[in-house]
Amino acid sequence: MQQTVSDKASSARPLTGRPVISATGLFTPEESISNEELVASFNEYADRFNASNAEAIEAGEIEPMPHSSVEFIEKASGIKSRHVMSKAPILDPDIMTPRIEDRGNDQISLMAEIGVIAAKQALERAGRDAKDVDAVLCAASNMQRPYPAMAIEIQQALGIEGFGFDMNVACSSATFGIQTAADYVRAGNARSVLVVSPEITSGHLNWRDRDSHFIFGDVATAVLVEDAAIAPEQHWEILSTKLKTVFSNNIRNNFGFLNRAHPESIGEPDKLFVQEGRKVFKEVVPMVAEMIIEEAEKLQMNPATLRRLWLHQANAGMNRLIAQRVLAHEANSDESPTVLDTYGNTSSAGSIIAFHQHSDDLAAGDNGLICSFGAGYSAGTVFVRKVA
Ligand code: COA
Repeated sequence: MQQTVSDKASSARPLTGRPVISATGLFTPEESISNEELVASFNEYADRFNASNAEAIEAGEIEPMPHSSVEFIEKASGIKSRHVMSKAPILDPDIMTPRIEDRGNDQISLMAEIGVIAAKQALERAGRDAKDVDAVLCAASNMQRPYPAMAIEIQQALGIEGFGFDMNVACSSATFGIQTAADYVRAGNARSVLVVSPEITSGHLNWRDRDSHFIFGDVATAVLVEDAAIAPEQHWEILSTKLKTVFSNNIRNNFGFLNRAHPESIGEPDKLFVQEGRKVFKEVVPMVAEMIIEEAEKLQMNPATLRRLWLHQANAGMNRLIAQRVLAHEANSDESPTVLDTYGNTSSAGSIIAFHQHSDDLAAGDNGLICSFGAGYSAGTVFVRKVA
């Protein structure tokens, strides 16, 4: 099947309909918060809460707020620090939320700004001129506003003709975006698509909740999915993409525009990220491991031969178990690299950061897997093979 994209200068070679990853890009916020800093701030908040509620606690009417602990966080999650866009207000026990200044409608919005930085890096690494990109997907777990789409703002900032739209599949947004982009290439509707994932997760995290205050960090990633005919010499063939969703309330956020009916409820904890971490752990590990193994079978590939797994970065223990089931042995950091220690959970961007930082050393012909999982539940696999 040889199709061409009608409304752009056609490439010298006919399109193949075979999608590849031409390059990736990464924006990392300058500021980061260590577990020590985070726990000191939380414990100060807990002490103040307990002091101001001393009588009620004494009377047994409310429970005292326990301290958080650096040791617990690292042991339970593997996270040692996280990058954020707005450090000081998050650590201020009187605020404990990022303070992002409003910008005028004539200024680029923050999500678009960091998405553009990641996208420009991907374009530069691919040697691609923005005018030769056909579409932009902004795939992320939270959008700064409902409309106009963040993707269209990114598209304009980069000078891209064509189209863009936003998509949200929580932690699986980026892999769902990659499959969508790959399908455009497969169908001949686009030859070059940017999948941009600006994840300002600090905005949806309840920094006052001991069970989850350590989980998330901010970042932006970009993946350039293209037809093999126009890809740079070094690229990653996309062997297959597979998506799965199964409804679950175990990771939930009730924030939304209909909250206006009850404005007093907007400050309640369920309008931020809430999860049953244990249940997520237990239910998602087998689901994802099975999905990877089934997809490998379809590709007639022994999953144990996968050279590297770039897994979703939510919890080091989950990744250890999934990698073990897939590779049939305990994976080392070369086989299943982590970025959790320095980035924390960056929602859909996590597996893309891992791929971006830990893929240059692979050899032509090596097979690998980008895999996401999270709220929905949602999971996505992208099997890739290094070319050249
Ligand atoms: N500091 C110290 N102790 C803490 C704590 C903290 N910050 N947070 C919780 N604890 C305590 C709990 O109170 C509990 O104490 P108890 O045994 O006396 O009741 C104990 O530690 C265990 O808590 P639990 O919540 O069961 O911990 P866990 O081992 O399940 O780890 C997660 C928590 C969130 C790290 C883990 O469940 C996880 O990562 N799950 C997967 C989450 C995921 O992938 N989500 C997707 C997000 S997009």
